[in-house]
Amino acid sequence: MDDSKGTDGSLLAISDLHVAYPENRAFVEGLRPDDDGDWLLVAGDVGERISDIEWALGLLNERFETVVWAPGNHELWTPHHDASQLRGDDRYRQLVQLCRRLGVITPEDPYPVWRGAGGPVTVAPLFVLYDYTFRPAHLSRAEALAMARESGVICTDEFFLHPHPYPSRADWCQARLRETERLLAARDPRLPTVLVNHFPLVREPTDVLYHPLFAQWCGTEGTADWHLRYRATAVVYGHLHIPRTSWHDGVRFEEVSLGYPHERRPRHRERPLRRILPYPRTGGSAEHSMGPGRPRDRGQT
Ligand SMILES: [Fe+2]
Ligand SMILES: [Fe+2]
Repeated sequence: MDDSKGTDGSLLAISDLHVAYPENRAFVEGLRPDDDGDWLLVAGDVGERISDIEWALGLLNERFETVVWAPGNHELWTPHHDASQLRGDDRYRQLVQLCRRLGVITPEDPYPVWRGAGGPVTVAPLFVLYDYTFRPAHLSRAEALAMARESGVICTDEFFLHPHPYPSRADWCQARLRETERLLAARDPRLPTVLVNHFPLVREPTDVLYHPLFAQWCGTEGTADWHLRYRATAVVYGHLHIPRTSWHDGVRFEEVSLGYPHERRPRHRERPLRRILPYPRTGGSAEHSMGPGRPRDRGQT
């Protein structure tokens, strides 16, 4: 990809494709750019199997000028049925290598610059995971986990997302925070950014979760000021399966998930890709006026 040229087209985004579902797989097969210059930001949860992830990102990369990927929790699972049994950071590195072979940009690659309409902006895919700090303030980490377990909302990550070689997912998150801060500090400071992360960078979007205890698997307080510190013109995220636009400190946050087939409403199918740039500042379209989705019923994102 040559990031020195100007492009027509738009900076588009989606997440939570969950292509193990046949309906979602068919949806991905039907995804095409509107213009030759369209870029696609994929904010995690493409799937669980390496073969599924390779299929989806490979197909999208053939169709869009540039594809940028940030990992979701589902890619980082090690399912018993998967051909790869690598765990934790080893699996993440395997996914990065897979993306590089396909030509998809990862959090480990130089950040590309979008020079089309609404640019130039640095597009930064991030991988910072979560550290349970979004739990209810009056509960310790152990208490919040125990209550979630008793309530039946415990995240499947507890069984399939291994932190190897770190002692815990929270420790892995701390390492990712430090590494990602180092990478972001090295970007061109003259340009604003579009930050792409599977999990919301601020806590407020989790306030609408049907099960507040599930928020502990949804991000980290360590990124609370990143949208300001790194001059974000937009933050793209998923994971919650509650597609919507919200504003925090004057910065636009876009939850862009497709989600599971049973979660979708008819209008969501009409315009599946969210346009991040150029941003239509007047006459907001339906895709930009979505309210919170229906309450989450289980701890599966
Ligand atoms: Fe997720
Ligand atoms: Fe998801």
